[in-house]
Amino acid sequence: MKFIFLTVLSAIFLTSCYYDKAQLVYPAEGTCDTTNATYSLKVVPIINANCTVCHGGTATAGAGIKLDTYTDLKTYVTNGQLLNSINQTGVVPAMPLSAAKLSACEINQITAWINAGALNN
Ligand code: HEC
Repeated sequence: MKFIFLTVLSAIFLTSCYYDKAQLVYPAEGTCDTTNATYSLKVVPIINANCTVCHGGTATAGAGIKLDTYTDLKTYVTNGQLLNSINQTGVVPAMPLSAAKLSACEINQITAWINAGALNN
């Protein structure tokens, strides 16, 4: 009886001490990894997931603007419209069109890649 009591008591004690701060349990949440923000590792997956449905391949919904190759995307890096569109500054139509804004982390990763020279890496 005493043993059961102690077991229950320590179980309550231990679970109540469980430290479940989200950032410690799920380290990826709340942090944004901008290291290795390369074209192939970070930029392409974001563009493919959010943009190429209109701006890739034979898609016609993107007003003829192609973003699915490095060379095509680089044009919009150089003229500033990639960042203007995803930051939704109002200078050009907000992108992705008719969809939720990219996450702050995705924008940070694209910005980091551009700041590092927008290399084909
Ligand atoms: C639903 C289709 C659609 C999606 C998804 C979409 N776009 Fe667009 N995008 C358009 C259309 C249409 C235009 C032309 C808008 C205009 O000029 O009025 C455009 C224009 C642009 C331009 C050129 C802006 C300018 O005027 O110079 C850029 C840059 C751009 N999009 C980037 C993106 C990026 C980056 C994504 C993904 C994050 C994206 N778009 C997702 C349809 C889309």
